[in-house]
Amino acid sequence: MIRICPSILNADHSRLQSEIESIATASDLLHLDVMDNIFVPNRTFTFAESEKIIAESPLPVDSHLMIANPDEEAISYARAGSASVTFHFEASLNPARTLKSLKDFGVRAALAIKPGTPFEAIAHLLDELDMLLIMTVEPGFGGQKFMSETLPKIRQAHEAISQLVGAKPWLQVDGGISIETIALAATAGADAFVAGSAVFKADSPAAMCKELRELAVQSQVN
Ligand code: DX5
Ligand code: ZN
Repeated sequence: MIRICPSILNADHSRLQSEIESIATASDLLHLDVMDNIFVPNRTFTFAESEKIIAESPLPVDSHLMIANPDEEAISYARAGSASVTFHFEASLNPARTLKSLKDFGVRAALAIKPGTPFEAIAHLLDELDMLLIMTVEPGFGGQKFMSETLPKIRQAHEAISQLVGAKPWLQVDGGISIETIALAATAGADAFVAGSAVFKADSPAAMCKELRELAVQSQVN
């Protein structure tokens, strides 16, 4: 199963609601990038703004927290109504505990790793995850180039996930995903795709979501 998750980071924030509505029937989750200007050198939505977007979204929201203190704050994004909450391994002092608190609350619990963090660092947590996000750019900004050096790590994670017994976490990629790169990531084993600029800079964001999905479906591996 392929999931397309448009990121509103680089959508037109002056008409965010209509931007979101434009992709609602063509995508699976709305990807919300929360940045605090500490974990990454950029700031995006405040918590109040995030709450409003989550409350008004016609799609389930996939909150991606690029913040320095996720162990304290992740649960607030679950309480605000996110369907899925992703926090960074590099920022967490106790990822197992934070994952458990999210799951106990009833949202999907996900961990993200930056390009420089090896899969081995989180391999022991794979069983606890509903989704693993492998960043395919350095987190902080939309519109960056896909880092193809992350492909071996995607393959490695896919291999490890295939060997799990029972429920398998989704494998998400985020950064530089477009019609030029999505097949590479899908062939490596990714099954959930965040796309920001590719979707919202397209003439038709909905048609772009459909095209990205078709390319991913064609390249998907078992
Ligand atoms: C980057 C964010 C991404 C970003 C993706 O730190 O996590 O979700 O918005 O944007 P594109 O698709 O333009 O790389
Ligand atoms: Zn993101």
